[in-house]
Amino acid sequence: MGNGSSRDAGSVDKVTDELRSLADTRAVGARLPSTRDLQQRLGVGPVTVQRALARLVTEGVLVTRPGAGTFVSARRSARVGDTDWQQVALGASPVSTSGVDVLLAGAHSTGFQLGVGYFDATLRADSRLAAAASRAVRRPDAWSAPPAAGVPELRSWFGRQVGADPDQVLITPAAQGALSAVFRALLPAGSPVLFAVPTYPGALAVARSAGHVPVPVPTDADGIRPELLERALAATSARLLFLQPTFANPDGGVLAHARRREVLDICERAGAFILEDDFARWLGHGQVPPPPLWRDDDQGRVITVCSLTKILAPSLRIGAIVARGPVMTRLASMRQVDDSFVPMPLQHTAVEMVAGPGWSAQLRAASAALRTRMATLTAALATELPECSFANPRGGISVWLWLPRGTDDLAVATRAGRLGVTVAPGRYFVIGEQDVSYLRLCVAGIREPDIPTAVALLAEAVRASAGTTADRSFAG
Ligand SMILES: Cc1ncc(COP(=O)(O)O)c(C=O)c1O
Repeated sequence: MGNGSSRDAGSVDKVTDELRSLADTRAVGARLPSTRDLQQRLGVGPVTVQRALARLVTEGVLVTRPGAGTFVSARRSARVGDTDWQQVALGASPVSTSGVDVLLAGAHSTGFQLGVGYFDATLRADSRLAAAASRAVRRPDAWSAPPAAGVPELRSWFGRQVGADPDQVLITPAAQGALSAVFRALLPAGSPVLFAVPTYPGALAVARSAGHVPVPVPTDADGIRPELLERALAATSARLLFLQPTFANPDGGVLAHARRREVLDICERAGAFILEDDFARWLGHGQVPPPPLWRDDDQGRVITVCSLTKILAPSLRIGAIVARGPVMTRLASMRQVDDSFVPMPLQHTAVEMVAGPGWSAQLRAASAALRTRMATLTAALATELPECSFANPRGGISVWLWLPRGTDDLAVATRAGRLGVTVAPGRYFVIGEQDVSYLRLCVAGIREPDIPTAVALLAEAVRASAGTTADRSFAG
């Protein structure tokens, strides 16, 4: 008797597994064969089939509808085991997106894109990119490992742009990959890092995710304020300053010529590195940009990061770290540890794009389009939103718009989104108690004729949010 019932239980288990697998192959709502068919198919009696079906109904895999049959349940995914243990194992999160997720997601929303930091297709040389990429993948060495620091032609090219030797250049997966390597290679978790604010959220995200403590150093019309930089270095003993001397994101500012030496001297006295994010080198509006800060430094104090994504295409994820001295060894090791090297076909695609005849045409087209788009944006803002203020950007792709005091940046961004315009809320660009009543408006991803309509809709969102108060607890 005992033997008989354990044999029954065994066959119920087996049939349950078989029916579970059968349910897995069917779409939600699909009807299972009749009990009689299942009996025949599985070679068991009706009681075994009924018991197995009853178990799967209890588990939520199947549902029975009297008179109609048995169906695959919509709650099938409820069978996934309990993952709550992960919350305990993961503990507090060291990883922070600092709003990068919001900025990246903006690129996929439809409507008017004033929130996106990459060129729309009309400003990209996609067909040249396609041709260059197809030649790059057909090279005999396409799928071999490149030198870990990058292919020599590309290292030389970036070196020439910055004024460095090829062996002072490491090829990276664009600027974000470069920033990630530099922050983590230079400092242990818990270190303070100074940021000229407002700043780029992606850099804050890297620092926070590495366990660093971002410390704000305010800027004015001439860039970072030297006296406050000096105080911040004295107060924190920070060993790293993150700076965008040329066409900064978000305000398009430039570090004044007179301040460049002062900033270098202050960092020299404090023994600190300067991480120069030169992402916007080719995003001027027709004027010649100041040279990279790297050129004013002969002590290896400045580490410069470059990228091709802004001027060419977001998916051409090629950039560089330019550094000299012992830090270069550290950075080269970090890069290898991170992801070994940047794929060969991508590097050769980039070589073709920058060395080919289309490069200067791309620079001219981008610069002309940015100038026109920016002129249209600033004129529309002056007309539609006189209650807001902004400094005219010296170059780059964005305007840092100051909303009427206390306006909730997130409320405006959300309302604008509903009206079909993406914008980036100011809170992601600041640190600590800084005012977050700002929006960053970008002209990279919007065609010029669409700008006046987008600004008119934005003005509607600003007015509808008047009187809202920003919850500043979000700023880090
Ligand atoms: C200041 C700054 N640095 C770096 C990046 C990262 O660019 P990418 O990783 O596409 O080169 C961005 C992108 O918006 C940026 O604005």
